[in-house]
Amino acid sequence: MTSGRSFYITTPIYYPSDVPHIGHGYTTVAVDALARWHRQAGDDTWMLTGTDEHGQKMLRAAAANGVTPQEWVDKLVSEAWFPLLKDLDVANDDFIRTTQERHERSVQVFFQALYDRGYIYAGEYEALYCVGCEEFKPDSEIVDGTGPFEGLKVCAIHSKPLELLQEKNYFFKLSEFQDRLLALYDTGFVQPESARNEVVSFVKHGLKDLSVSRSTFDWGIRVPWDESHVIYVWIDALLNYVTAIGYGSDEAEFERRWPAHHVVGKDILRFHAVIWPAMLMAAGLEVPAGVFAHGWLLVGGEKMSKSKLTGIAPSEIIDVFGSDAYRFYFLSAIPFGHDGSFSWEDLAARYHAELANGFGNLASRTTAMIERYFEGIVPVPGEYTDADREIQQLVAGAAAKADAAIDRFRIDEAIDAIWTIVDELNGYITDNEPWVLAKRRPERAEGDDAQRARLGTVLYTCAEGLRALAVLLSPVMPVSTEKLWVALGAAESLGRLQDQPIREAGAWGVLKPGTSVNGLAPLFPRVEQA
Ligand code: ME8
Ligand code: MG
Repeated sequence: MTSGRSFYITTPIYYPSDVPHIGHGYTTVAVDALARWHRQAGDDTWMLTGTDEHGQKMLRAAAANGVTPQEWVDKLVSEAWFPLLKDLDVANDDFIRTTQERHERSVQVFFQALYDRGYIYAGEYEALYCVGCEEFKPDSEIVDGTGPFEGLKVCAIHSKPLELLQEKNYFFKLSEFQDRLLALYDTGFVQPESARNEVVSFVKHGLKDLSVSRSTFDWGIRVPWDESHVIYVWIDALLNYVTAIGYGSDEAEFERRWPAHHVVGKDILRFHAVIWPAMLMAAGLEVPAGVFAHGWLLVGGEKMSKSKLTGIAPSEIIDVFGSDAYRFYFLSAIPFGHDGSFSWEDLAARYHAELANGFGNLASRTTAMIERYFEGIVPVPGEYTDADREIQQLVAGAAAKADAAIDRFRIDEAIDAIWTIVDELNGYITDNEPWVLAKRRPERAEGDDAQRARLGTVLYTCAEGLRALAVLLSPVMPVSTEKLWVALGAAESLGRLQDQPIREAGAWGVLKPGTSVNGLAPLFPRVEQA
């Protein structure tokens, strides 16, 4: 079913120093929804996620828990990070761990290539380092500490003291790439516009060469020509995007997949939009297809994070509302690219209004009425009225709008467009009152045939609208749309939901009259709030 048009998309690789929180889940489901959309469109799709396992952060977490770093990451990855993907119904094609041999070997190949091409040199360095960021901080992100950290310099992101490091390091000639990077930002490389502006202004201030090795600890990948150094964890981490698809080991696979679309949180935009393309340019490789930076989930007005103890585990939400609701909530409630405040009240309100009463109710009443009035067989539509044709046009328009929004990575706008179908169909049912059409009127016996035909047309319109909704919403809510698909009898007559061509979802008349509809338990049962 693949068209040959390659679509390779990545999440950041997360630090398994700790368990995941809803921010990690957010990026991951966004990328999964985009990947599922493209896969269902027939694009040659590949979704990569994984874990970033080297560096000082990991060393310290392991030490604090009295185990080796390898033991620590093995435990966290198997007990917390793999389960996250399963719990959120993420259909990733690969999972890379930076401690895997396939990665370590190819990172050394790349690093050696940069050295051979003259982009790496040895030097002295003294600067303030944030272990939370795993970064020597630029002046703009160094602030004065308060409270217990009064008198110290702290990281603007983590609010934790910075450490003064003085080392002999290897440096990457990042400063040589300023002009080429600025030219790249004119091509739509960084999205959204606010992210682009931030990166342009950062690069215009001038780029310093980057320290790319460390010699005071050894939890990392060795510099190939100097065993006393390990490669800086961010260089190691960024390279996952190419090592996972065969850089340095499988040329054909690399050719097929690269370049990637990177989706990241805005906290790590600079690494992806500045350092990463410069590294690729230095190596003579193609730059990424683009970097999309989404906003932060805020809790109580602050960026939610484990280190600040505002972390919420994805399971807290999934256990109560289900994985589809998790996916729907974060992807529809927050304009992709903007910050969004999380609250349990907002989640519960949207769950009930949009999923239980909106989509769920549309699905249950339509299938229930087909069971009751047509013995569970999808009726043949009669002559269409203007109102019916309006629904048909709305479905076609919504499907096209959603696909265009997905092209811009605006999952929220895609869902908004699709949701007009839910709202209009619910209104259509109210206007057409199928329960009235279903009543026999003995005084107008000759009118009964026409009335029954009308009832068939109305219910066919609802069922066919639901067919389109199932196809269009399956990348966002794979579990409930699958249940709906089976209930509509479509699995039997049309095949698997994930094989339905999503760019043709707006065509009318796909669901076959005569199909058997089965009972449907509520897709989104009401949740009693504690
Ligand atoms: O930075 N809101 O890993 P990390 C939204 N290993 N998204 C959030 C978030 C929040 N409050 N908190 C975290 C690293 N995220 C590096 C990446 S990539 C080569 C290496 C998400 O575990 C968001 O995607 O700190 C953010 O960019 C990422 O988690 C950071 O994950
Ligand atoms: Mg972080």
